[in-house]
Amino acid sequence: MTDKRKLVLYIATSLDGYIATNEESLDWLFQVEGEGDNGYSEFYKSVDTILIGKKTYDWVMTHEAGEFPYKNKQCYVFTRTVMQNTKDVSFINGDIVDFIHQLKEKEGKNIWIVGGGDLLQSFIKEKLIDELIITVAPTIIGKGIPLFKEGEYQLDLTLKATRTYNQFVELHYSVNT
Ligand SMILES: NC(=O)c1ccc[n+]([C@@H]2O[C@H](COP(=O)([O-])OP(=O)(O)OC[C@H]3O[C@@H](n4cnc5c(N)ncnc54)[C@H](OP(=O)(O)O)[C@@H]3O)[C@@H](O)[C@H]2O)c1
Repeated sequence: MTDKRKLVLYIATSLDGYIATNEESLDWLFQVEGEGDNGYSEFYKSVDTILIGKKTYDWVMTHEAGEFPYKNKQCYVFTRTVMQNTKDVSFINGDIVDFIHQLKEKEGKNIWIVGGGDLLQSFIKEKLIDELIITVAPTIIGKGIPLFKEGEYQLDLTLKATRTYNQFVELHYSVNT
């Protein structure tokens, strides 16, 4: 029997736990000196499916000048409104639990949840995440969009590995079942 594909959070955060400023700037992140691509291409090869919150999707479309960056993967954008699929993404507005369980049953590589924090909270509450790979920037920004929104949940983790990319520290956890 082969292992089921995993749903993995792969995201960068400030040291104080924010994924963007309130104005949705990531300048504080991009200015940090890393090493190579900070493990991104290696991780990207390990997934064939990508899950994105609607605000993060909007951010990507604005900042990548309308050119979708994950064209060679199966991409799903989560929203509570009904939207027309594009050639690059399918919009999902139904029950996330059923949808994710069906996705995990399919053959394939791992599944990347890009974020943001709002979508992530739904996934954590429903215990859908298998692993977390969090890259910490050596920056404290004081306020912003939180990686982990306040809420009624607890997730117990096991540290699998740590890596450093110059100024970044990557923390790799599996979720205890
Ligand atoms: N540092 C990083 O590595 C990183 C990574 C990812 C994102 N970001 C940043 O994070 C910011 C956005 O994060 P965010 O937390 O504000 O928003 P988000 O999670 O990207 O998107 C929130 C939206 O997703 C939809 N959504 C959330 N939960 C849902 C559910 N259970 N079912 C269906 N739809 C659901 C809703 O869309 P509707 O309102 O359309 O219903 C909601 O308004 C952006 O600035 C982005 O650049 C940073």
